[in-house]
Amino acid sequence: MQDQLKSIREHVAEELKNIQDSNALEQLRVRVLGKKGELTAILRGMGKLPAEERPKMGQIVNETREKLESAIDEAAAALRQREKEFRLKRETIDVTLPGKTREAGSLHPMNIVLDDLLDIFTGMGFEAVEGPEIEYDHYNFELLNLPKNHPARDAQDTFYVDDNVVLRTHTSPVQARIMTTRKPPIRIVSPGRVYRADEVDATHSPVFHQIEGLVIDENISIGDLKGTLDTFAERLYGKGIATRFRPSFFPFTEPSAEVDLTCAACGGKGCRTCKGTGWIEVLGAGMVNPKVLDMCGIDSKKYSGFAFGMGIERLTILKYNVPDMRYLYENDLRFLKQFR
Ligand code: DAH
Repeated sequence: MQDQLKSIREHVAEELKNIQDSNALEQLRVRVLGKKGELTAILRGMGKLPAEERPKMGQIVNETREKLESAIDEAAAALRQREKEFRLKRETIDVTLPGKTREAGSLHPMNIVLDDLLDIFTGMGFEAVEGPEIEYDHYNFELLNLPKNHPARDAQDTFYVDDNVVLRTHTSPVQARIMTTRKPPIRIVSPGRVYRADEVDATHSPVFHQIEGLVIDENISIGDLKGTLDTFAERLYGKGIATRFRPSFFPFTEPSAEVDLTCAACGGKGCRTCKGTGWIEVLGAGMVNPKVLDMCGIDSKKYSGFAFGMGIERLTILKYNVPDMRYLYENDLRFLKQFR
């Protein structure tokens, strides 16, 4: 029996040297000291000993049990310590590591220009209004003096939804909507998407953006139009940018003009951007055709007005020297990050 105890002590000591985790240690404890453990089995065998040997053996077994228990407890404490150190090491925070940053976004260049435009025009007393992109032929064409089969309709390749509904080809139908529902004085700008059946290239897209302007009141003259556009040009592109009016034709204005701005690239001296002319064509404008006023229910004897319309892509390209309109749509971060 003594030999058995000795061998238990020895193999426990041996096993303790190799144990790496507290689970294995717990298994060892149960195997040796548990109810069905090796030591308990020996204790049970004591019944077979002669009565006089029992106290002595009992004492030896108890001593062995105490030794084993304390050895296992010690090992357990050492293991806990090791596991704690390991955990602390693993959870160390290196405060010198660079932090995780969240990149800030930026406004799209066309939104920057749109914000500028709204600032400029609301600063002059204009109100910003919007209209539908899916529009009645009636507002997109008819009320703007472009009846069915009018040759000027061909200038705008139209997406028809059905005979009476189109994707608006310009922002001018908002003029008609405002004139038919409000009384003068009217002073609005209307930005938004417009659609034309064009192929995509460096200067065309089937979807693009315009901003429309309309002023109607008593005694509005072409001088007011000129003053308004001069102010717009200087505010958007800087001092020294002037406007030049060239006679043109739009069915909804009479007289009509194509308006050029001083080429900002060369300051008007003439360069490649302006093909040597010193001017860049930017927008269409004119005095609202009295026929349009009357069709929209505004007395053309009492009131007059001016209107203008321009492409926001074009304004943006000129402001930032963008070589190809497609950059504005492709959402390439290498392009967009330049506008931070
Ligand atoms: N709607 C015209 C276009 O898309 C631009 C335009 C020209 C608008 C003259 C106007 C205007 O309001 O008066 O080409």
